[in-house]
Amino acid sequence: MTIIDGKATAAEIKKEIAREVERMVSAGGKQPHLAAVLIGHDGGSETYVRNKIIACEACGFRSSLIRFEDIVTEEELLACIDRLNRNADVDGFIVQLPLPAHIDKQRVIEAIDYRKDVDGFHPINVGRLAIGLPGFISATPKGILELMRRYGIATSGRKCVILGRSNIVGKPMAQLMMQKEYGDTTVTVCHSHSTDIKEECRRADILISAIGKPDFVTADMVKPGAVVIDVGTTRVPDATKKSGYRIAGDVKFDEVAPLCSFISPVPGGVGPMTICTLMLNTLAAAKHEYYD
Ligand code: GUN
Repeated sequence: MTIIDGKATAAEIKKEIAREVERMVSAGGKQPHLAAVLIGHDGGSETYVRNKIIACEACGFRSSLIRFEDIVTEEELLACIDRLNRNADVDGFIVQLPLPAHIDKQRVIEAIDYRKDVDGFHPINVGRLAIGLPGFISATPKGILELMRRYGIATSGRKCVILGRSNIVGKPMAQLMMQKEYGDTTVTVCHSHSTDIKEECRRADILISAIGKPDFVTADMVKPGAVVIDVGTTRVPDATKKSGYRIAGDVKFDEVAPLCSFISPVPGGVGPMTICTLMLNTLAAAKHEYYD
């Protein structure tokens, strides 16, 4: 059994990006530039955005942070997006989610120029992924693919079960695992209204859980030799931690791990990869890899 080390893999990728940026800049190119828009003071969002900015520094990128209070109007936010779309120095940008309830999330996502949509949330990028065209792929599924590739995990022809059908993990993950160029697996997606989830999981060679229910995946749901990828990031109270909480995955790690060929832990598995794949997307944006 191999425990997948997302932290070490992410650190390696960031070093590779930094070397590439050095080459680009010394050849007279411009420094890649990621901008982040943060609304309000949600603790989780503050941490994510701070970590994204730290990752930009590690990669040799320029970064900008644009902040609004949560009373910002949708019009003000859309005007900011319009400025970022037209700012030639900004290669890619993100609007950190969740947004305040009075703002239409979908309208915001669709206002972002798809050529700068390094989150891969714009319908053009989602649609292009669905039909196998190049474009920005959202950070978590892309990070999982990258982990499997770097650990030499064979996927072609195998059976993949995905728990969860969210727009940012379950659905794009299913697309990627289905497509010949990526996972090339036979995919089943289970969700809150699926029946026989245990039986479905037991048939999986690759089980990817993204439902946000701590300890949901137990040993009796895992086929011996399976690859288990845990995408859960649920905050559970923990008085022994300074923050007062710890991050729990979906998988009952201690009992499931001995059965697996590969398993990604929480924390330290998929989590550290997501910011790193955002950096890969920003580098691709700066190099106009997908769009002119
Ligand atoms: N909130 C939680 N995850 C993400 C993400 O990947 N991108 C953005 N923009 N917001 C998020």
